[in-house]
Amino acid sequence: MTDRFLCGASTASHQVEGGNRFNDWWEYEQSGRLPFRSGDACRHFELYEQDFDLARKLGHNAHRFSIEWSRIEPEEGRWDRAALSHYESVIDALLERGIEPVVTLHHFTNPAWFTRSGGWTSRHSVERFRRYVEFVAPVLARRVRYFLTINEPTVYVKRAYVAGDWPPCRPRSWLNGLRAMRNQCRAHVVAYDLLHECRRDAMVGVAHSAPYVEADDPGRTLDRFVARVRDFALNGLPFLLFGRRPRAALDFIGLNYYTRQVVCWRPRGAGMLFGAENKEPRGHESRSFNLLGWEIYPDGLRLVLRRFARYGLPMIVTENGIATTDEQLRTAFVTDHLAALDAARAEALPVSGYFYWSLMDNFEWTEGVGARFGLAAVDFDTQARTVRPAAGRFRDYCLAQSPRSGPG
Ligand code: IFM
Repeated sequence: MTDRFLCGASTASHQVEGGNRFNDWWEYEQSGRLPFRSGDACRHFELYEQDFDLARKLGHNAHRFSIEWSRIEPEEGRWDRAALSHYESVIDALLERGIEPVVTLHHFTNPAWFTRSGGWTSRHSVERFRRYVEFVAPVLARRVRYFLTINEPTVYVKRAYVAGDWPPCRPRSWLNGLRAMRNQCRAHVVAYDLLHECRRDAMVGVAHSAPYVEADDPGRTLDRFVARVRDFALNGLPFLLFGRRPRAALDFIGLNYYTRQVVCWRPRGAGMLFGAENKEPRGHESRSFNLLGWEIYPDGLRLVLRRFARYGLPMIVTENGIATTDEQLRTAFVTDHLAALDAARAEALPVSGYFYWSLMDNFEWTEGVGARFGLAAVDFDTQARTVRPAAGRFRDYCLAQSPRSGPG
């Protein structure tokens, strides 16, 4: 699907730009219900050129970032052309550095007016999203070939509408979750069509959060059963919804891989069919975890790629990374996951890109800026970036994909 293997890092507007005062997360942060505010974040809105110089130095040939809908349409029907021009400049800055832009249209945040008027459960949500995509697609598609319509719909819908700890922070409701999921699926299809109208060779996908799900005791039928149910709910069903209904609407699958879930049968509670996660299962005593309690399981990357290969589409790892302050652990994480990626490529799985999350430390939603995922550390007082050792390991890998003649 592409001549070169895409290799770089991912970011998202609200997490790095700073000053996104017209979106629902900003409103949520101002309400004081969270101990953190995104504030200036990484000031990437102003510092993007400097950040892309860094990405180029780090050998990246591609970069994934998102467009902030609330900047484009701060009030319903008021279109900010200057904001769109800003993103054109961002894209040009990448292209000038020989870096392929990969654009996400929706990464967790919405304009505040959209959320106030019903968010993703509203029957008008798809039409509202369509108008946004109609405005940006013709301009973006002139320069960009790779698009992700929606980032991690399953995570977004679960947090925003089922768990209710993300905006709009409503009480738990599975019904609203299903409504929001249905509307995001429709919005994806609408965006898919619009992007293809603007650019025939566009490559459009969804960035799916893909944990590797495994039975705690593979010899136990009930453990195997709940693992299959959970895998279907988290990885199978969403793909069917986004990719196959009402018809094929994916050119590639974006996979955000971070961790494995080891599950066992526990006959209690409403969700028992999905199994219970066992963080200390038999035979896995040496498991290690990141700062957020997610297990580090590199071979899961290969296994997830194998799992999704059944759909016969190209795959791109659109996120993979670790929240840690232990730099040896981060370097080992990168080394081991790249080895798993190579093993997948050696099995001839159709994987055509890998993006580390993230280029730099940033605003990690309800975790604030303490969960440090960056290839570069960010000092949030001075905005200084300091390259971490793992970035050098990743640089070697990137340069091996597309060697450069001149110096970094
Ligand atoms: O920071 C997030 C990102 O916004 C979506 N994927 C997971 C990352 C780490 O939690």
